[in-house]
Amino acid sequence: MDKPKHTEPTLIDPYGRKLDYLRLSVTDRCNFRCYYCMPEEGVEFVPRKELLTYEELSYLTGIFCELGVRKVRITGGEPFVRKGIMGFLGKLSDIPQLQQITVTSNGTLGEEKMNELLRLGITNINISLDSLDKERFFEMTRRDKFEEVFDCILALLQKGFKVKLNCVLAEEKNIQDIIPFVELTKSYPLSVRFLEEMPFNGKGSFETPKWNYKAIFSYISGHYSEVEKLLDEKNSTSTNYRIKGYQGSFGIIPSYSRTFCGTCNRIRLSATGEMRTCLYGPPRANLRDVLREGADKERLIQTITDVVAKKEKDGFEAEKLQASTPKKSMTFLGG
Ligand code: GTP
Ligand code: 5AD
Ligand code: SF4
Repeated sequence: MDKPKHTEPTLIDPYGRKLDYLRLSVTDRCNFRCYYCMPEEGVEFVPRKELLTYEELSYLTGIFCELGVRKVRITGGEPFVRKGIMGFLGKLSDIPQLQQITVTSNGTLGEEKMNELLRLGITNINISLDSLDKERFFEMTRRDKFEEVFDCILALLQKGFKVKLNCVLAEEKNIQDIIPFVELTKSYPLSVRFLEEMPFNGKGSFETPKWNYKAIFSYISGHYSEVEKLLDEKNSTSTNYRIKGYQGSFGIIPSYSRTFCGTCNRIRLSATGEMRTCLYGPPRANLRDVLREGADKERLIQTITDVVAKKEKDGFEAEKLQASTPKKSMTFLGG
């Protein structure tokens, strides 16, 4: 008789997608006020006691990893504004199953934290940067921090980090930055990703982005005769290209058009414990509440697997589930 094959636990959704990438938001707070994420006056941040503690975050992440998660992205808000974040990352790096920890930041982390990340073996970092022009940067983020962020990017590259830049595009905001960003990849080995704006601005009003992935690609390919298509990683959100001879690459993320849902391997946990199976969908459970009610590990595993069984086919299906709710700020959802 054949011996049963040893199978590792995995989270598989109803469409057969293996969910092994956890996006973990560690705070809803941010030191920037990007227009596509928050109104100028900011948003009402949640009281501290409603945030998952680091102990709770580590414990839950450990469970997710026992269930098959292999990559964790730390997001926010801005992850580095939360006190004690480096100690927490140290704890995460001890989780044996975890193959990769990555971070998305606004680029105000400072040299000391960069060195500590390297010591922990965290070498992939995505930085949000919407303009290469100081004034436009200020208009978009409402903070006078362009030099600090740009110097941070140069320092990260110099230290050997693998850097991706995220640039949200919008008409009358930063279209004039597209080509300068592509030109940045001529001499720097980084990847610049252009994103469609999503309706998570904390305001409730939103217009379908005119600069969708097709418009972005056609604009760039109109400027260059030799745009090479690169091979994308299997669960990539971006479609990637290189201008022939350039050191870096550029990518386009159809975050609003949602063309990549078929290969989605992501689950999300917000800083307050909300578990989402889609960025566009409602929370499916609150793991903080389940945990604080005294649930044991078995019940938490059951809650997580029940949620995974409800994962939506795509971001459009997910959106329909909460059509009447005002769109939350990205800072609460966790990017
Ligand atoms: P890599 O892990 O380096 O490939 O990056 P990533 O694209 O997974 O992460 P990042 O935090 O840099 O996200 C880039 C943009 O893609 C952000 O605006 C995200 O909100 C968006 N994004 C990430 N995952 C999803 C998703 O599941 N759905 C949608 N619609 N957008 C997403
Ligand atoms: N639309 C598109 N991208 C957004 N981000 C934050 N809010 C939005 C939005 N409304 C991006 C940031 C960051 C990433 C995690 O999400 O630029 O790089
Ligand atoms: Fe996944 Fe939803 Fe994002 Fe689509 S929109 S990729 S289903 S999280």
